[in-house]
Amino acid sequence: MRRSLQSALLLGLSSLVAAVFKDEVGQIDFHHALVGLPQSETTFFHRPKKDEKASLLYTLSDVGVLGAVNPNSGALVWRQQIFPGISHGGGHLRAPEGENWVIAAYGQQVQSWAALSGRNLWQTEFNGQVKDLEVMELTESARKDVLVLFEEDGVTVLRRLHGVLGTVVWEFREVSKDIPLQVSTSLSNVYVINLHGSPSSYSLKVTSLEPATGGRVDHMIVGTKGDVQGPQDVMFVGANSAAPILAWASNDLAKLNVHILGTKSKQEFALPADTVSVNIHAPHLTQSQPHFLVHTRTSTGNKGEVFHTDLKSGQITKAYELPLLPGLGAFSTSSDGANVYFTRVTEDEVLVVSSDSHSVLARDPLKSDARVEAVHAVSEVIKKAGGKEFAIRSATVTKSQEWVLIRNGQIDWTRSEGLSGAVAAAWAEIPEAENLAKVLAEEAHTNPWDAYVHRLTRHINDLQYLPDYLANIPNRIIESVTGGAVVVSKTTGLHRDSFGFNKIIILATHRGRFYALDTGNHGEIVWSAEVFPQAPGSALDVKGILVDDSEGTVTVRGANGEYAVIKVADGHVVESQYGDHLAAVSATAVIESEGSKWLLPLGKDRKPTGDVLKDRTLDQTIVIREEDDSIKGVKFVNEDGQIVKNEIWQLQLLPGQKIASIAKLPAHDPIASIGRVLGDRSVNYKYLNPNIVVVAAIDSAASTLSVHLLDTVTGQLLASQVHDGVDGDKDISCTISENWYSCAFFGQYILNDGTDREIKGYQIVVSDLYESPSPNDRGPLGDAETFSPLDPVDTPTGVPLPWVVSQTWILSEPLNNLSVTQTRQGISSRQLLAYLPESHAILGITRHGIDPRRPVGRDPSAAEIEAEGLAKYSPAIFIDGRNLLTHERDIVGVRGIVTTPAVVESTTLLVAYGIDIFGTQNSPSGMFDILDKGFNKITLLATVLALTWGVVLLAPMVRRKQINRKWEAFL
Ligand SMILES: *[C@@H]1O[C@H](CO)[C@@H](O)[C@H](O)[C@H]1NC(C)=O
Repeated sequence: MRRSLQSALLLGLSSLVAAVFKDEVGQIDFHHALVGLPQSETTFFHRPKKDEKASLLYTLSDVGVLGAVNPNSGALVWRQQIFPGISHGGGHLRAPEGENWVIAAYGQQVQSWAALSGRNLWQTEFNGQVKDLEVMELTESARKDVLVLFEEDGVTVLRRLHGVLGTVVWEFREVSKDIPLQVSTSLSNVYVINLHGSPSSYSLKVTSLEPATGGRVDHMIVGTKGDVQGPQDVMFVGANSAAPILAWASNDLAKLNVHILGTKSKQEFALPADTVSVNIHAPHLTQSQPHFLVHTRTSTGNKGEVFHTDLKSGQITKAYELPLLPGLGAFSTSSDGANVYFTRVTEDEVLVVSSDSHSVLARDPLKSDARVEAVHAVSEVIKKAGGKEFAIRSATVTKSQEWVLIRNGQIDWTRSEGLSGAVAAAWAEIPEAENLAKVLAEEAHTNPWDAYVHRLTRHINDLQYLPDYLANIPNRIIESVTGGAVVVSKTTGLHRDSFGFNKIIILATHRGRFYALDTGNHGEIVWSAEVFPQAPGSALDVKGILVDDSEGTVTVRGANGEYAVIKVADGHVVESQYGDHLAAVSATAVIESEGSKWLLPLGKDRKPTGDVLKDRTLDQTIVIREEDDSIKGVKFVNEDGQIVKNEIWQLQLLPGQKIASIAKLPAHDPIASIGRVLGDRSVNYKYLNPNIVVVAAIDSAASTLSVHLLDTVTGQLLASQVHDGVDGDKDISCTISENWYSCAFFGQYILNDGTDREIKGYQIVVSDLYESPSPNDRGPLGDAETFSPLDPVDTPTGVPLPWVVSQTWILSEPLNNLSVTQTRQGISSRQLLAYLPESHAILGITRHGIDPRRPVGRDPSAAEIEAEGLAKYSPAIFIDGRNLLTHERDIVGVRGIVTTPAVVESTTLLVAYGIDIFGTQNSPSGMFDILDKGFNKITLLATVLALTWGVVLLAPMVRRKQINRKWEAFL
């Protein structure tokens, strides 16, 4: 009976077990597919099909992703990365009216995309940098063409590209010192606007060209010298005849200068006192009325002023004003034929006015959750058939870096685009509301009576959870037996689970915002906090991020000396310090002392910054990388209050070499077994040294990659390999774990298949380290439990060197961000992880597949297969869907992969960050410690019951029989 009770209990407990199963895509993994934060100039509503009313929301975001979003649901329709890597703003995007393509430009490239499907129609690349892009809505033919303004080594180049083919129709070049700024077009002219003059004292030059040929017609200087200090001062250049204006503000933001293109004069308008920023909104449809709105923000509020342009007289008049309201506020323009509407998002409502008069056409009061701080918005205003009713949708970018769609005063959807552009990540445990260990320690330190009272109240307090717990037991048993429903945990909010699958991943973005995601809840955002707001054009560069789970905090250090301590549970910033250039940090080191870890910031001179060492001592050797790429082992000593850097050793690279990758052992890298049993039952002992790093140095001129393994205590070179024909412009990435390291790069490779053919390709080299080349030999160290590299045992040969076994595999595509899975005890076999930037996927290769001991040119013996699981070596690794941890998902722009062990040995947690965020659980050796979903608990239970029943029934019979037999013998 007792036994069956126990099994029932066990089954109850195992309800937790049902929580996760292999291949439950969407259950064990999560993916934030992001486009990035929309930029105001490159975001709009547009109809991808001429005859259909439905429009999509297009944006070219600040991370260089071009995306189309369904405005009804917020779902991504398509996206393309038009910048290699992650951009920090910039780029151009336009959509011609009534065409089925959109046109984008970034850097040197111009690309045309199918508006509905996101298919690439054409793309061209030129020498210069794109400065502006406009669509020629009206041309001499029925076609719409594209005007692209380039700066090519100081030369202004304007090209008209064929809208359908992307070929150059004509090209206008002007060799002058003028800086190309923007382009504008009307039926009769194309205008090129340049900055003319000398740095910080410019005037504007408008050159008009013949649209059909690109021939110069005329040019004129607008404004006086010194009117404009730089390109950023020119607020607005209209795209076409609906906004034929050029506007710039005076230096003190007191006056706005407006010039009508094609005329000679400029007009001045006073701006409100205390103006801090000015934005101009104008229609983009050529048939729209030439009206525009000037949006000014003051330190406390914002207002709008509407102006009308009289094209005949060349006069601009102020039509009306929208009042000064508190908050940032956002204005947007939409046009419907000749009608122009201005939509204003204020703190508590969204309203629409016509450009003709200030009477409000529609007004939607905002529900409380829709009261966002709008930074900029685009809107679609649709006049409902017949009536005077208007439907307004505003896609608004908020100050908290979300993209929300406001309709009827409510939020239809929210996209957390601020999550894109992550530059650093760290794992954290979910802080427990009350850390039992801490409480117990507290109790131990108070006097017995207080401790007793404290304990009693604690237990009484705990009682409140008892009824819930008891009520839940039958449920848990039933669910665990049937196996079903428990997949979705009922507990909401942050909570730890007994498998250790629920953790927090902390992310820092280049915009200076921090996020915490809950891996136990599909990567939901737990909190986000603006910790280091960045000025336009600058980006946060995180040099160190470290979580302290006992305190429940995360510490961050940025390149400009930014420093913050943030609470993991709620994002509360406990301590923070903004950066200044004097406190610049070039790197950080994680220092472990007395069981705790902290971040040591190093300045430009690679010395500890500030007075972090004032009340701490350091006796470790720290490996630093100097500005000239030499690697040094140093110790910092406090000599009479002065921190002195003592060099212990140095690795000087050869001239022409540059460091391509550095890999160090993961902080958590447990070794389950110190040896490896070979086929003949002998043992190869692993070379295990906690103080090693891999340094890969590339010589681009000679195309050689040198991979060095260094002892960080002595600086001794433990192993070196040189690879030839390596392309230094392609990614090079290395990683190290346990007793092996691996590097991926593009290089020359001699086929190991007997033909000795030489090929070039992406390859991955894996090197295993053993104590000695002969099995059962522990080398000079023998069975010594400890060793010191500073005190070598065999003086003649110096420090014992590891025995290195290497092998190379080739792949069909590049790999980067190599890393290795981590499990709790290191018993599960490890997996090499890498991002495939061409397939947008994450690859996991088991260690068995890339075992350098795989026999070459022969089949493994039965003993080798049995003891080591070796397969015959084949030089290529085929990437197929089964090796992709991301399955079918398209993960864009990965910048790093971080892993952490779960509580169960089989499983490792992984998060890849960059533009997208992807997280999953991975079991390199299968889930040997978790019951499979197919596990039939009913049968097990029935068997146990049947056996128990059998025992209960048979026991008396057997006993009787035994007694009888004894009597028989006796008789
Ligand atoms: C990931 O790879 C990219 C591309 O090579 C690189 O720029 C980035 O620094 C890598 N990230 C890490 C954390 O190594």
